[in-house]
Amino acid sequence: MSILNRLLAATALAAMIVPGTAYAGGTVEVLHWWTSGGEAKAVGELKKAFEAQGGKWIDSPIAGGGGDAAMTALRARVMAGNPPAAVQLKGPGIQEWAKQGALNDVQDVASKENWDSVLPPVLAAIMKYEGKYVAAPVNIHRVDWIWANPQVLAKVGITEMPKTWDEFNADAEKLKAAGITPLAHGGQPWQDATIFEDVVLGVGGAAFYRKAIVELDQGALTSDTMIRSFDQLRKLRGDVDPNFSGRDWNLATAMVMKGEAAFQIMGDWAKGEFLAAGKKPGVDFLCSPTPGGAFNLNSDSFTFFKVKGADRLEGQKVLASLIMSPGFQETFNLAKGSIPARTDVKLDKFDSCALKSQADLVAAIKSDSLVPSMAHEMAVPRTVRGEFLDLVTNFFNSDMTSAEAVKQLAAGVKRAQMQ
Ligand code: BGC
Repeated sequence: MSILNRLLAATALAAMIVPGTAYAGGTVEVLHWWTSGGEAKAVGELKKAFEAQGGKWIDSPIAGGGGDAAMTALRARVMAGNPPAAVQLKGPGIQEWAKQGALNDVQDVASKENWDSVLPPVLAAIMKYEGKYVAAPVNIHRVDWIWANPQVLAKVGITEMPKTWDEFNADAEKLKAAGITPLAHGGQPWQDATIFEDVVLGVGGAAFYRKAIVELDQGALTSDTMIRSFDQLRKLRGDVDPNFSGRDWNLATAMVMKGEAAFQIMGDWAKGEFLAAGKKPGVDFLCSPTPGGAFNLNSDSFTFFKVKGADRLEGQKVLASLIMSPGFQETFNLAKGSIPARTDVKLDKFDSCALKSQADLVAAIKSDSLVPSMAHEMAVPRTVRGEFLDLVTNFFNSDMTSAEAVKQLAAGVKRAQMQ
């Protein structure tokens, strides 16, 4: 018997001994970028819950905060005709892939479970393509947060979190005078863009943010308000340590934990890191929104790519239903730092930062000051986002003036829109 035949025979035997390969809950390969301490804990909950339903989980983590590396990997997989069954994807990205016909819808699950009645309409709209759900949201993350180490603040007599950028700048001066790094930051384009959009929100408010960053209005992009936003970003550049370049966001969070820096401006996945390290909110770390009185929205969701085979199709449905189940939304978000996407999940077990997030979200919806994050792929197509990221990073790493920055930004955005 040739080696090949022996191998085939062995495989046939194995198939007889282990009857079939289909799992009760189906099989899913899941592509995601949750690799930091808090993120891994959260995605571990999803894996555990899926396996508890008899499913087989094939993990495909692609490291890199903000998901840029994961999106590159996804494109390669789709080009090769071999997409993963479930992919962490967000905002306009969902629409872009759906438009290309790459996604299966999960409308039958959504109808059966009445997702429309438990999701905020703004989120439901993002999850649908041509009226059908093609994505299931796991959470609501807030991007406009400042995290701080209270012990470090106490060293220079800061007793309250800054409420305006002027207050932040004054605190930063005090910290610098005491030899303390005010701002823990990782110099990666998506992190630069994260602090940039939070600054724009604080300097210009929600209506301005929307005009400039969502509607891409040329007048707003070149306005004095945008110039002042870059001026504030320049100030923040002076608040970071010399080794910020290329640093991962979770290492920046660790600097705050260890008292090596006072503040970090980052979405509430940073809270997932503090919690995973056993830190307590209000005791070991503080949270407060960045200035602006608004809410910068980011939501993680999973899409279901067109795959073949009953086992994998079953896996997609089981996963979609699981993601949207109230129990899972509670467990997952307690670990992730976010709040549930479902509006009917009780928040009794959630901490003060999460409760603040929920209250501010409701208030922002009422006052029309809920804005989608550009840095986290909720606002604009990837090509436009790419222009923002390039320009903001260039600005952060050079001595470009604010006037030059707005000129280049407006031109870049126009270029991307014409593509
Ligand atoms: C995602 C979060 C993730 C963060 C850092 C964001 O874009 O929405 O879930 O934790 O990137 O990787």
